[in-house]
Amino acid sequence: MAPAAALALSLLLAFLAIGPCAAADSIDLWPMPQSVSHGTQKLYVKKDITMSMVGSTYSDEKSILKDAFQRMLDLITLNHVVDGIDPGSSVLTCVNVVVRTPEDELSFGADESYNLTVPTTGDPLYAQIQAQTVFGALQALQTFGQLCYFDFTSRLIELNSAPWIITDRPRFPYRGLLIG
Ligand SMILES: *[C@@H]1O[C@H](CO)[C@@H](O)[C@H](O)[C@H]1NC(C)=O
Repeated sequence: MAPAAALALSLLLAFLAIGPCAAADSIDLWPMPQSVSHGTQKLYVKKDITMSMVGSTYSDEKSILKDAFQRMLDLITLNHVVDGIDPGSSVLTCVNVVVRTPEDELSFGADESYNLTVPTTGDPLYAQIQAQTVFGALQALQTFGQLCYFDFTSRLIELNSAPWIITDRPRFPYRGLLIG
């Protein structure tokens, strides 16, 4: 087989391998976390969803996480007006971020691993992110943002296929250096 044809075939096979998974819930996560499991329930995201950092040893003095959280929300709503009416009980009100190390200097091999869970029960109902470093938390916020979308009919932010349990580890030790 010619090299180009072999490459095309392997790309097609790679596409087929991930295709069914992505089509099932039409959510493409990028970069694809190491492990993803989800359910079938639709949640709504509160208009003024907040971020908390209960349990973190990281203080976010430079507002790295707070700014990223706001950017993530802006990206979801794209300046559309989100309806303030809560449709019922399945409303996510908060994302709690636990960062275990206080440092925020990007060093070689920064640990970008994280866990992200979006449960369907709890009062208040909140998503939980656990990460070793702020860089892992940034990755997790980006992934969380990919789960959410603005629905033009309901004019609410929705999140499908909950509950979610997502785990990620850096696959390449140099990935941290490629960011920014
Ligand atoms: C993610 O959860 C697993 C299992 O509870 C734990 O062993 C691991 O340390 C967690 N990873 C992070 C980055 O919090």
